[in-house]
Amino acid sequence: MTEYSAPRGTKDVLPADSPKWQYVEAKFREICGLYGFREIRTPTFEHTELFTRNLGEATDVVSKEMYTFDSRSGRSLTLRPEGTAPAIRAFVEHGLGNVLPVTKLYYIGRLFRYERPQAGRYREHTQLGIEVLGCEDPGVDAEVISMAAEFFRSIGLQDFELRLNSIGCPECRPKYRQALVEFLAGRVGDLCEVCAQRSEANPMRVLDCKVDKCKSVLTEAPKMTEYLGGECGDHFADVQRYLTQLGIPFVLDPKLVRGFDYYTKTAFEFVSGQLGAQNAVGGGGRYDNLVEEIGGAPTPGIGFGLGLERLMLTLESLGVELPVKDGIDAYFAVMGDAAREAAVSLAREARSQGIACEVDFTGRGLKAQMKTANKLAARFAVILGDDEVNSRTATLRDMRSSEQRSMGFADLAGMIGTEGL
Ligand code: HAM
Repeated sequence: MTEYSAPRGTKDVLPADSPKWQYVEAKFREICGLYGFREIRTPTFEHTELFTRNLGEATDVVSKEMYTFDSRSGRSLTLRPEGTAPAIRAFVEHGLGNVLPVTKLYYIGRLFRYERPQAGRYREHTQLGIEVLGCEDPGVDAEVISMAAEFFRSIGLQDFELRLNSIGCPECRPKYRQALVEFLAGRVGDLCEVCAQRSEANPMRVLDCKVDKCKSVLTEAPKMTEYLGGECGDHFADVQRYLTQLGIPFVLDPKLVRGFDYYTKTAFEFVSGQLGAQNAVGGGGRYDNLVEEIGGAPTPGIGFGLGLERLMLTLESLGVELPVKDGIDAYFAVMGDAAREAAVSLAREARSQGIACEVDFTGRGLKAQMKTANKLAARFAVILGDDEVNSRTATLRDMRSSEQRSMGFADLAGMIGTEGL
């Protein structure tokens, strides 16, 4: 054990694994591009009020999970616990709503929540997210969901379930909330301690409880979808119709609530894998009042976010192999000072032709250098001794077939660019 270790709930991604992370991020960017999303990058911290006023004071995130601190000037700042409010803050601040009728944003960023760490739950995680601002048509809900599903499939995650619900709007939700409070009031004794406490202040979160006794109480609870007003009901029906048209299977889940208060109408989650309680690889929903609450003109919105760490764990648990290429094209194993000097120039020339290569500067024996070439998964080794420098030749070794051939410096790059000797 060294003196220092990464803080609890954080994760190092080591070089052997990072190509997989890059692959998934690149796929995400590619699909965002196909759907017309453009990237937004916002700061890692924001003024605390952005979150306290807009995510919901009674939510777990605001009430106990934020990393909040005072700046030197005494202004309260918070490491962003989620990406939607910051994206909208930037949308409003920069008047993006005046540029296009519909604004489609995506982001890849680190988020911070002081949660109890467990498999798939971190205190710092990476979220890949999208937001569509300016359109209330249910077709957009379906496109956001279908894009997420397509992304999962594109990286080989076939085995997931899409759970769908509508949580209504500020007109229909209070009626449901009231019905739920009344229902729970008669059963407080059967709820877990946390739910017993929040059954009045935050009854919707009780629906989300994973404790068995709460789950069994809730089997008889009233369902939000039975309280949807005409417009919300039509919207929900249309979203389902579109999803069916697009061939995207979904499961209606009347207990699905999301962790923030800004959601309206459509709410959804993708669950997969064997991470137990933390099986939501992504989730999102509509938030038709948030832009106005953050100070913009009334603008409907919908979005989605997925946790990259959780997604990678899920892929691993399902045995999904990502088609990533690790390794370099060539390793220059050199013996002698003249050889090393010549290799430096040869490597620069090769790199200018797009060949990934490295030169050995350790001065070790050839055997040790070849071991390194193997560890680096080099496709070829270029073996060069001082004698060969004079004749401007080197030995090219195919690391897969172990075949080797002597050739002039001028021909090396051409051969390294081929499939093998
Ligand atoms: P969320 O459900 O809180 O939504 O987070 C989205 C996803 O981020 C989760 O499904 C999960 O995969 C991942 N995630 C969340 N917390 C953690 C954690 N502590 N450790 C690891 N992964 C985590 C949002 O944040 C919304 N802003 C999503 C959204 C965008 N809604 C509309 N637009």
